[in-house]
Amino acid sequence: MEPHDVVNFVRELYNSPEGFIPLHAPYFGGNEKKYVLDTIESTFVSSVGAYVDRFEEMMKQITNAKYAIATVNGTTALHLALLMAGVKRDEVVITQALTFVATANSIAHAGAVPAFVDVDLDTMGMSPEALEDFLKERAIVKGTQVYLKSTGQRIAAVLPMHTFGLPLRIEKVVEISNRYNIPVVEDAAESIGSYVGGVHTGNFGCIGTFSFNGNKTVTCGGGGALITNDESIAKHAKYVSTTAKRPHPYLFFHDEVGYNYRMPNLNAALACAQLEQLEKFLAVKRNLAQKYIDFFEGSDIRFMKEPKGTKSNYWLNTIQLKDLEARNLFLQEMNKADIMTRPVWTLMTKLPMYANCEHDELTNSSLFEERIINLPSSVIKNQE
Ligand SMILES: Cc1ncc(COP(=O)(O)O)c(C=O)c1O
Repeated sequence: MEPHDVVNFVRELYNSPEGFIPLHAPYFGGNEKKYVLDTIESTFVSSVGAYVDRFEEMMKQITNAKYAIATVNGTTALHLALLMAGVKRDEVVITQALTFVATANSIAHAGAVPAFVDVDLDTMGMSPEALEDFLKERAIVKGTQVYLKSTGQRIAAVLPMHTFGLPLRIEKVVEISNRYNIPVVEDAAESIGSYVGGVHTGNFGCIGTFSFNGNKTVTCGGGGALITNDESIAKHAKYVSTTAKRPHPYLFFHDEVGYNYRMPNLNAALACAQLEQLEKFLAVKRNLAQKYIDFFEGSDIRFMKEPKGTKSNYWLNTIQLKDLEARNLFLQEMNKADIMTRPVWTLMTKLPMYANCEHDELTNSSLFEERIINLPSSVIKNQE
């Protein structure tokens, strides 16, 4: 299959014979304006307001988690989640090398150090076997804790990420981590509306986090959320995200280092209007993915389908080309034709700030780095 075949197909799909087709544009087709105006008229635009509470209730309903805490973005949700999981300065968090930089950055923000393992070929997410091998070969168990052999640092958490909305083998990752007594924080930034065996992503570890950035399935400009089924984590996370201020009508007393991470009501208004349309968005996106699946069926291009037993939100549709040369040709031709396509992120181990971190061979991650690209995946107008 040639790049121009894909160009023609995408133009047909989006009913757009010419002009720029973005990778993932927001779709505002519901109560967005009404709710945002509400916040302005009420003057409650900042971090206290009815929409923030409503957003958290909606997140609980959608994910079926017991608790949800709204944050200013997905990166801060991750930072907070790692702190709540007990990650301390100079400790190690195991994550995947194939991820957006925010995953690794959140570890650095907690003062900890990332270690990177490989991903699976069918999910593009953390490989449980890679995790287990890493722990067997490079870690040492002392009492109830696990330490990196090379440096003696404690391994404080495991942080897998559901890449482009395709659920990873999270149950297995949790089972292995439990065996080593290491908490799991799930980076579900890209996977709102994705399920493993009927359970929403983000519910498998002790905490899951989401992003509502402008390019996500559901956006509120900037926003994030943390979900958990643990009451003490939820209470503490909310407390720390709002400057750790002891409740009092007028006195200021803070009893630990807190953060200003609470989502403003203005953004929450947009988030509520968007979440009301989530089911519709998911239906359109799954329909779109099916069209891509049918189109690429039998060709030399592999479309990344949801793994068996899971349901993907198909946030960003992804194809795998046969090699780097073919990938580069596709990227060049499609972007020249004004159809936004992009390669996957540079592996974390190749970024200067993480180049010295411990990692395994990253065989599958390297293969994906050279071969996969994302295709336009926005909700299609008039099909919602
Ligand atoms: C995997 C992953 N983790 C974390 C984030 C961070 O989210 P945010 O941009 O809302 O800070 C994003 C998205 O941007 C992401 O894709």
